Amino acid sequence: MKILAIDTSCDDTSLAILEIKNSKFKILSNIVSSQVKVHRKYGGVYPILAKREHQRNLVPVLKESLLKSRLLKSKIKNQKSKTQIKNKKLKKILKQEEVFYKKLEKFLEKYQKPKIDVLAVTIGPGLDPCLWQGVNFARALGYVWNLPIIPVNHIEGHIFANLLPQIRSKSKIKNQKSKIKFPAVCLIVSGGHTQLVLMTPVRKASLSNGARRNWKYKIIGETRDDAAGECFDKTARILGLPYPGGPSITQQAAQLKLKVNPPTGGQKLKIFLPRPMLKSKDYDFSFSGLKTAVLYDFKKRPKKIRVSKEYIKEMAKEIQQAIIDVLIKKTIRAAKNYQVKTIMLGGGVASNKELRKQFKEKIKRDAPRSKLLIPNPEFCTDNAAMIAVAGYFNKKKSWRKIKAEPNLRI
Ligand code: KG4
Ligand code: ZN
Repeated sequence: MKILAIDTSCDDTSLAILEIKNSKFKILSNIVSSQVKVHRKYGGVYPILAKREHQRNLVPVLKESLLKSRLLKSKIKNQKSKTQIKNKKLKKILKQEEVFYKKLEKFLEKYQKPKIDVLAVTIGPGLDPCLWQGVNFARALGYVWNLPIIPVNHIEGHIFANLLPQIRSKSKIKNQKSKIKFPAVCLIVSGGHTQLVLMTPVRKASLSNGARRNWKYKIIGETRDDAAGECFDKTARILGLPYPGGPSITQQAAQLKLKVNPPTGGQKLKIFLPRPMLKSKDYDFSFSGLKTAVLYDFKKRPKKIRVSKEYIKEMAKEIQQAIIDVLIKKTIRAAKNYQVKTIMLGGGVASNKELRKQFKEKIKRDAPRSKLLIPNPEFCTDNAAMIAVAGYFNKKKSWRKIKAEPNLRI
C-alpha cells in the first residue's frame, strides 16, 4: 500500500510518499519546500503570501516526490484525451484557483496516474487559506485519479512522527506502533500549539470509525496565550534575530561561553526571566508574559548593551532555558500523575538540541519508569511523512467529504 500525503497547514509545502508492506513503513520520498525566505522580512508567516507560495509549489513538489519515489510515468498518446473529459469538473473543484488549476491540468495531461492507493491530507488545525490549498489539491487528485482521501489532524501528525525512523535509514522500518506503551503523554510544541495530550487505549470497536488506531486522545493542558514556538519567534524578533526564531535563538545561546568579555566592564550580564506557570498545579502553559519580560529588559538596557553580541547571546540562552524549564516540569508532572509508560515529544520546538538533552536527563532522573520518544529533528518540524503515518491509522473518505477545518482539535 502506498500513501501520498500532503501538508500545507502553515508555511511549508510538504509532500511525502510512504509505502507500507507487511506492517513495515518505508519513506519513498519526503519533500519540504520551505518558504522561510519569503516570510523572513515580515518576521513571521504572512498567510496570503503563504497561500500564493503553496499554489506555486504544490505541482512541482508533487512531480519531485513522484520522481524520487520512481512513480512518475509519462502518458502514452491515447491516454491524453481521457483527461480532457475530466477537466471540467476539475475546474469546478479548483474554481478559485485559476493559476493553480492551469498548472495541475498540464501535469495531469502529461503524466499517468501513479501507483498510489490512497491520499492523506492535513485538514487542520492551521491557517485557513493555506489549509485549503492542500485540501483542494488532494480533492482534485482524488477526483481525477479516483482515489480515496484520509483527512488528517496536523497535531496527530506531530504525535505520529514518533513512529518514523529514529535514524536515517534506507531500509524498511517496522511499524513501530508497539513502541508506544499506554498510558502515554505527548508534548506538542510548535509555532501554533503547546499541548499536553494524554493517550489511553480503547477497544477498536468503540472508535466506530474503522480507524486502525486503538487509542484515544485527551488534551490535559495547553497554552493560554502564545505557543512555545511563537515565543521563540517573537522574542527573536525583539532581539533583531531572523525568523524562524527557534533556530536563531538556539544558535545564539550555543555561542555563550562562560568566560565572556562583555561591554559591561568585564562582568557577565545577569538576566533572569520568569518561568510562567511553573508552579501552577494544572498542566497549562503561558508564554506571553515571558515575551513581555524580554521586551522590558531589552528596553531598559542602554543601546550600547542591547546591540552587543554578549547581551543577545545571554538573553537567547535565558529565553531558551525559561521555555525548557516550564515544558519539562509540566510534562514530568503529567507523566507522574497519570503514571504514563511513554512520554513523547513532537513539533518544531522539539528539534531544539538543548531541550532534547535536558528532557532525556530529567526523565531518567525524575520519571525513570517512563520511556522517552523524540522524533528525528527533521520529523519534528512540519513534514508530510508524519501525515502519511497518521493517515495510515485513520479512516479514508470520498474526496467530496474533505474540507479544511482551521480550528480542528485532537
Ligand atoms: O511544527 P512546526 O514546524 O510548525 C508548526 O506546526 O507551527 O514548528 C515551527 C516552530 C517555529 O515557531 C520555530 O521557531 C520552532 O518551531 N523551532 C524551534 C527550533 N526549530 C524550529 N524552536 C526551538 N528550537 C529549534 N531548534
Ligand atoms: Zn506543525
